[in-house]
Amino acid sequence: MSEVSDQEFDQLLAELQQLEAAHPGLALPNSPTQRVGGTVTKQFATAAHRFPMLSLGNTYSEDDLREFDERVQKGLEGAVYAYVCELKIDGVAMSLRYEDGQLTQGVTRGDGTRGDVVTANVRTIKTLPLSLRPAADQPADFEVRGEVFLPLPVFDELNAEREQNGEALLANPRNAASGTLKLQSSAQVAARKLRFYAYSLLTPGRYFASHSAALEALTRYGLPVSDTWRRANSIAEVLDFVHYWAKKRFDLPVATDGIVIKVDDLRQQDQLGYTAKSPRWAIAYKYPAEAARTRLNEVQYNVGRTGAVTPVAVLTPVPLAGTVVKRATLHNANQIEALDLRLGDLVFVEKGGEIIPKITGVDLAARPPEAVPIRYPTECPACGTPLVRPEGEAHFRCPNERGCPPQLKARLEHYVSRKALNIDGLGAETVGRLFDLKMVATPADIYDLAIRRAELVTLERLGEKSIDNLLAGIEASKQVPFARVLFGLGIRYVGETVAQKLAAHYRSIDALLAASADEMAAVPEVGGVIAEAAAHWLQQPENRALLERLRRARVQLEATGEAPVPVSDRLAGLTFVISGVFEHHSRDQLQALITSNGGKITSSISKKLSYLVAGDNMGPAKREKALGFKVPIISETQLMALLPSSSGAGEDAFLPAPVEENQPVAPSRPAPGQQASLF
Ligand code: IVH
Repeated sequence: MSEVSDQEFDQLLAELQQLEAAHPGLALPNSPTQRVGGTVTKQFATAAHRFPMLSLGNTYSEDDLREFDERVQKGLEGAVYAYVCELKIDGVAMSLRYEDGQLTQGVTRGDGTRGDVVTANVRTIKTLPLSLRPAADQPADFEVRGEVFLPLPVFDELNAEREQNGEALLANPRNAASGTLKLQSSAQVAARKLRFYAYSLLTPGRYFASHSAALEALTRYGLPVSDTWRRANSIAEVLDFVHYWAKKRFDLPVATDGIVIKVDDLRQQDQLGYTAKSPRWAIAYKYPAEAARTRLNEVQYNVGRTGAVTPVAVLTPVPLAGTVVKRATLHNANQIEALDLRLGDLVFVEKGGEIIPKITGVDLAARPPEAVPIRYPTECPACGTPLVRPEGEAHFRCPNERGCPPQLKARLEHYVSRKALNIDGLGAETVGRLFDLKMVATPADIYDLAIRRAELVTLERLGEKSIDNLLAGIEASKQVPFARVLFGLGIRYVGETVAQKLAAHYRSIDALLAASADEMAAVPEVGGVIAEAAAHWLQQPENRALLERLRRARVQLEATGEAPVPVSDRLAGLTFVISGVFEHHSRDQLQALITSNGGKITSSISKKLSYLVAGDNMGPAKREKALGFKVPIISETQLMALLPSSSGAGEDAFLPAPVEENQPVAPSRPAPGQQASLF
C-alpha cells in the first residue's frame, strides 16, 4: 500500500517540479517528475529476456495440489522443505531491470524469450520506485518480475466512462492493463493509474537463500510487494491459505484468480528444475469461476452511440463473488441463440476472470413450461428502423444514424464529455434533458443555446446560476483544441489517440476533408478500417453541414501552434511504406524522419511507391507485392543513407535506386494552409 495519499503525492510532486525548475542542475534523470513523459513512440522496440519468462502449471483442485506436493517431496528425496503462498494477481507479467538502484528497463513477457520494451509506460506507475532505497545487500544489476494491474475501482471508473461514450466495455482488468501498457503515449498511460506488485527477484547465479528472503529484500528496497504472502510448512498449511483467500480475495481492490505456491528454498528450486514450459518448484491453483443460478426476467436492448444493439439480461438479483448481480451481458444475438435462452428460464451466471457477469447456461431441467422463446428484434427498439447486421459483425445495428434518439443523445453526451469538449455545466444529464425537450439534437445546436436563454430560464431545476455556468462552459469549449473536437464528433473508431494523430498530421478539418481514406490510413495508429470510417463520415453532407455550423460557432477546427517544419526537402516527391520492426528507430521516428525531409508515407504498396522500408517481421505478402511491382525494398540503414547526414545517415550504405515508374509522384493534396476552405 502507498505510504502517502494520492493528494499528498501530487502536492509533493508539484513542489519537486518547482524546485527542479528553479535549479535545473539538481534535477535527476530518474526524478519522479520524469515519470509522465509526453513520449509518443509508434511501435515498441523489443528486447531479449536475460532469463526466459516461463509460465506456471495450473491446477483446479485440491487433489491436484496434493499431487504437486507429492512430486516435490519425491524430487527433494525426503528433505525438509517449505512453501511460499502468494495471491495470483490477474494482470500482465512485467520484467523490470534495476541497475545501480535505478529503474532502467521494463519489458513485457512477449513470447517468453523477447518482449516489448515499455519502459516509458511503466515509469508512470506511481508506486514503482524509479530509484531504490539503498541497501547493503542490493545487487548492482538485477531483475524484478511482477504483475502490472489496474486496481478494480479504476477499472470500474474506466468502464463507466466507456459506457457513457458508447464504447465497447473492457472485459476485465487484465485486458485493460495490457491495453494500457501498449498505449503509445505515456501521458495517457499515467492517466490510467496502473499499479505493480513484485513477486520475484532474479540475478545471474543464486543471490538469496530463499524466495521469502528475496521478497523481504524487495520490500526493503522500496518495491511494492503485496503483504498477503505467507510461508507454509506443509501442504495442509497451503490449503489453509487457499481456503482463507477463496472469499476474502473479493475484498481486495485488485482482481486475483488464484494462488501461486512456490518452494521457498532456492537451492531446492534448482534441484527440482523445470519442464519445457514451467518450473517444477511452483504451481498455480486457480479458483473455480464463481457461478450462481437465477431467473431471467427480461431482455433489454441498448442502442449505443454507434447504433450497435446490445442485449442485456435483467435477472432476479443474486449474490455472486462479492457483489449482487442484477444484470448480465448477453453480447449479441448469436449468444442468445446458442444458449437457447427463454424468458423465465433459470440461468447460470458466472463471474470468472471477466468482471462483467455473463450467462453461461440454462438449467433446462428447471425450465418452466411457460418460458417464452426470445425473439430478437428485427427493428430498432428505440426508433423502429429495421436493424442491419453488416457482414462479419456480431452486432445488429440501427442504421438510422440521424434520427435514432438514443444514438443522437449518446453522441451529444459524448461531445460534452470530459475527454472531448468538456463542457462545464452541461453534463450528460443536462444535455440529455435538453435533447428530450428537443432543444438540442446535434453538437452545433449547443452553441445556439446562448441566444435561447429565455427558454432555458423556463426549465425546472435550472437556475440562473446554472444557466450562467452552462453558457460559460459552452463559450469556453470554443478554446478546446482541434484534436479533442475531432474526438468529440464521435466518428466510429476515432478514439482519443486516433483523433490526436489525425489532428497532428492534418492540422485542420479542411485538410482532413481533402484527404483520401488511403492517405489517412498511412498516418500512424490509423489503419484502413478507421480511415474508411473517417473518410465516410467526412463525406456525408449532413456532417459537412454540422462542421460548417461548428466553424461559424468558432469551435477550433484547426490545430494551433507551430507546424513541424521540414528539415530538408531531400525526399520530396518520394513515397514510402514502412513495415516491420526496426533495430534503431521506432516506426514513428522513421515516419517523422521521412516526412520532415519532405517524403510522404502511404500504407499500400503500388507501382507508384518509391521504397518499401522493411524491418524484422514484415509479412511475406508485402515483400512479394513489392517485388511484383519492382518497388525497391530497403533497410533502415539504407533509409538513413537517403537522409542528410545530420539526420543520422550511414554514409556507406548501399542504396538501390528507385526504378523509373516509382519515381517522384506529384503530391495529391495541397499543403495545409494552401488549402482553400471547402465551405
Ligand atoms: S510466479 C515461472 N507469482 O501468473 C513463473 N506469477 O503463469 C513465475 N502471476 O503470467 C511466475 N501473480 O505473471 C508468479 N505471485 C505470482 C503471480 C504470478 C500473478 C502471473 C504471472 C504469469 C502467470 C503464471
